[in-house]
Amino acid sequence: MSTAPTPAAPVPHIQHLPGARFPSGPTLASRVLAGDLFRLNPLPFMAGSAQRFGDLLHYRAAGRHIFQCNHPELVQEMLVQHARHHDRGIVMQKAQLVLGQGLLSSEDPHHMRQRRLAQPAFHRDRIAAYGRIIGDYAAHTTFAWRSGETRDLHDDMQLLSLRIVGKTLFNSELEAVNLRIARAIEAFMSFLPLAFLPASELLYKLPLPMMNRIRQSRRDLDELIYGLIAERRADNQDRGDLLSMLISAQDTEEGTGSMSDEQVRDECVTALLAGNETTANGLSFALWLIAQHPEAQQQLQAEASAALATGSNARNATASDYPALPFAHACFAEAMRLYPPVWTIARTAAEPYQWRGFEIPEGAVLLAPQWVVHRDPRFWAEPTLFRPERFLQPPAGSDPATRPKFAYFPFAAGSRQCIGEGLAWMEGVLILAAIARDWTLAPAPGAPSTLRLDPKVTLRPKDGIPLQLTRREA
Ligand code: HEM
Repeated sequence: MSTAPTPAAPVPHIQHLPGARFPSGPTLASRVLAGDLFRLNPLPFMAGSAQRFGDLLHYRAAGRHIFQCNHPELVQEMLVQHARHHDRGIVMQKAQLVLGQGLLSSEDPHHMRQRRLAQPAFHRDRIAAYGRIIGDYAAHTTFAWRSGETRDLHDDMQLLSLRIVGKTLFNSELEAVNLRIARAIEAFMSFLPLAFLPASELLYKLPLPMMNRIRQSRRDLDELIYGLIAERRADNQDRGDLLSMLISAQDTEEGTGSMSDEQVRDECVTALLAGNETTANGLSFALWLIAQHPEAQQQLQAEASAALATGSNARNATASDYPALPFAHACFAEAMRLYPPVWTIARTAAEPYQWRGFEIPEGAVLLAPQWVVHRDPRFWAEPTLFRPERFLQPPAGSDPATRPKFAYFPFAAGSRQCIGEGLAWMEGVLILAAIARDWTLAPAPGAPSTLRLDPKVTLRPKDGIPLQLTRREA
């Protein structure tokens, strides 16, 4: 019996003029004339540039060389093979002003040590224990919903994600604590876009109302976290939360001991910032897509009803339900393909090096945009359509069988891959199932059928996610 050979994945297409030092890309003049600038509208700018200039493109902006890579092979090279040449992106480097030396903003070797110490807090067994918290909090959220009403589910997902973070990180159920955390996250998020500016350190110190608010939030959050750390150190008990794990972690590999209070603080603030909005936005986009696709919604509802039971047998989701929810997993995966909460990965070249025959100067910014690669028709059939079945095993969709691994990287890859990925999947899958078991979602009457997006530090829905809710019959 002969089998047809599997077609090879398309190789990167890189354009350049003969003898050019850099690959081709949009010139400043063409960008200004067309009003097509990263700062104004980054998503169409990145997608349009990829279409015109191919898989590795180059331009200059704000005095820096920018390289954008749009092909899975190049994404892999940037995030894995060439990782040793890179530092964090500029925004995350400057974010040290608010995040300190946490995982997101620190460089090696400090980052490697912190990663070793923090890893056990995100171990599979630990995440499994958080499943019950996620299921209970999801039930608590939907308890407030009324059949027939229209609600902004983005607000609900933000609050739900915040409550889960408060409980899993600090074992706190106090709304007052969550409110302090929410205020600080919001203030820090408003600072990050400014971190790109050359004088952001100076700006941070100025007595401007916005900066006063950010510094005040930092003081307030520090007071809260240092207080919790002191309590834990005094009673020396594992409360089953991430904070206990971070405090008790010991570096056995290199014998550098445990984390100082300041390091624990930095990791807590980092987890709050990295884990809250990303998950809330991923869930919000998934709910919006499900509301637009009744067939997918019915399949999700059937799966959720079977896994979590209905009527008098209905129970809250836990981690043990996760394996019985492959379609919920596929819906969350497909939502993060179309609307990746982290829409581009950025790195800075820490030293000059050669990449595919081109010079990468020190200080160059390298970008790997999920927004572009996740929607590339070479790797995704009908890329703009919501088709969760692409992610079912064995592949039930009609996507190219040769789709490379790095065509999909919502959690990045390499030594900087998201440490909270397991927790994010657990939240995404259990919350979607909990909602689908009891509710039917529909677009809000009169709401536009397209989503307006707000690509800030994370990708957000610009006008919230207003949906109409109908309770399902048991
Ligand atoms: C859908 C939800 C999430 C998405 C899409 C996401 C995405 C990402 C991505 C793309 C990165 C890498 C950034 C880069 O390389 O520049 C990252 C890093 C990180 N994420 Fe997540 N994340 C999510 C949820 C979480 C959660 C729930 C937590 C923790 C509670 C978390 C904690 C972190 C941390 C600490 C890092 C830095 C890791 C390191 O550099 O070693 N994330 N995340």
